[in-house]
Amino acid sequence: MEIQLWREILEPYTLAVDELVVKFNHLIEANRRVGTYAPIEQVMGRVKTISSILEKCQKKGISMKEIEDKIEDIAGIRIVCQFIEDIYHVVNLIRNRQDMKVKSEKDYIKSIKESGYRSYHMVVYYTVESLKGPKELLVEIQIRTLAMNFWATIEHSLQYKYKRNMPERLSERLHKAADAIVVLDEEMASVRDEILDAQNAFNIKANMVADILINIQNLYGVANKREVMKIQDEFFRIYNQGDLDELSKFNRELDVISEGYRAQSLG
Ligand code: GTP
Ligand code: MG
Repeated sequence: MEIQLWREILEPYTLAVDELVVKFNHLIEANRRVGTYAPIEQVMGRVKTISSILEKCQKKGISMKEIEDKIEDIAGIRIVCQFIEDIYHVVNLIRNRQDMKVKSEKDYIKSIKESGYRSYHMVVYYTVESLKGPKELLVEIQIRTLAMNFWATIEHSLQYKYKRNMPERLSERLHKAADAIVVLDEEMASVRDEILDAQNAFNIKANMVADILINIQNLYGVANKREVMKIQDEFFRIYNQGDLDELSKFNRELDVISEGYRAQSLG
């Protein structure tokens, strides 16, 4: 097949991957902004290379006309979460979205693959707007924890290096590592609440500090410099105490002061 034709086929898949990465990243951002926990830690996307498509066609006896129907991972999205529980949140989130329709799902977390591989896979229909109008295509979404991703990445590179001839000794070690990863995920799950509390407190504090700094900065424009300096010193003092409640009280007081200046400048 000519390279130009390949480009034409792959173009919409590139668009789909780009759009989906933006959308999932936006979810992370939106959660951070309002200070709620984001079930997604990281999103990656890729379009399958021509050589890897050809390799798969050969391996699975797929003809050129069947490529788009039978190769479900031309567009691939990988979503990495901190905890197993998050994976199922993301699965539900995807099931309920208007812009994608689930074609199939595979839970390799409940049914671990022979290799030791664990992940949740979804194949979804997703529509992009192309020059010729809307085009519905398939996208494979892999959802895994950081630990699962760590294992899969290493295993994949070893598979690639040894092709089908992975030394027995190495494959045994990979299986042991896979077992260790299961335990690691379980342990993370058991301390999940504690970890989440700590992260939440951190997020709340970060948002509050950002708020306070903006307020102080705005005051510089309207208030007496010496007074603003005093407010700033007070902020640093409270910040160094590290008490979240005190910081929150200070933030509210600052809001009142700012409001007062706003009213003055309007009047
Ligand atoms: P493919 O021909 O690879 O698409 O297999 P499949 O149609 O049976 O689908 P499956 O859901 O098993 O695998 C799809 C993708 O998951 C693969 O392309 C890999 O990215 C990943 N995957 C599946 N099994 C393994 C594994 O044992 N190790 C690693 N590292 N990745 C895997
Ligand atoms: Mg597949």
